[in-house]
Amino acid sequence: MTDDDLIALARAAALKAYAPYSGFSVGCAILSVDGEVVTGANMENACYRLGLCAEQSALTAAQHAFGLDKVARVAVAGGDGSGAELKGDAPVTPCGGCRQALLEASQLGGRDIDIVCASGDGGIIERHRLSALIANGFGPDNLRDSTKHGD
Ligand code: THU
Repeated sequence: MTDDDLIALARAAALKAYAPYSGFSVGCAILSVDGEVVTGANMENACYRLGLCAEQSALTAAQHAFGLDKVARVAVAGGDGSGAELKGDAPVTPCGGCRQALLEASQLGGRDIDIVCASGDGGIIERHRLSALIANGFGPDNLRDSTKHGD
């Protein structure tokens, strides 16, 4: 699965977003270490702060399909999803909360995660490593000294 393939899936997923309040549709496609793919899109709510981001929606599907610890690569794309194709010329990088959720998957799997960020039209692509997007983040590894997690 190439980055272009994964971006195409993220762009298609964005068209299934429920984003009536922001008008900003985001799609996310997650590839596992074994080549399985799941997708998700943002889902908003009349109580605005309860909206769900595309990455967290896709991470939920990833946990269900193959397990968070198997996440290898993630593509995100966002923009105007009101037409037949997603539009927009600015790459979408995961928000802070999504970086934290991705860090959980990364530390569970013991591997860095490639994050491919695309503009809505797919024309602009940025590649990042999660470790750069959330440097020195707090994750499950940091709980090793707790009474519940310590060995
Ligand atoms: N959004 C995502 O789905 N992922 C991100 O990483 C950034 C923001 C969504 C949340 C909200 O529904 C809309 O984009 C506007 O913020």
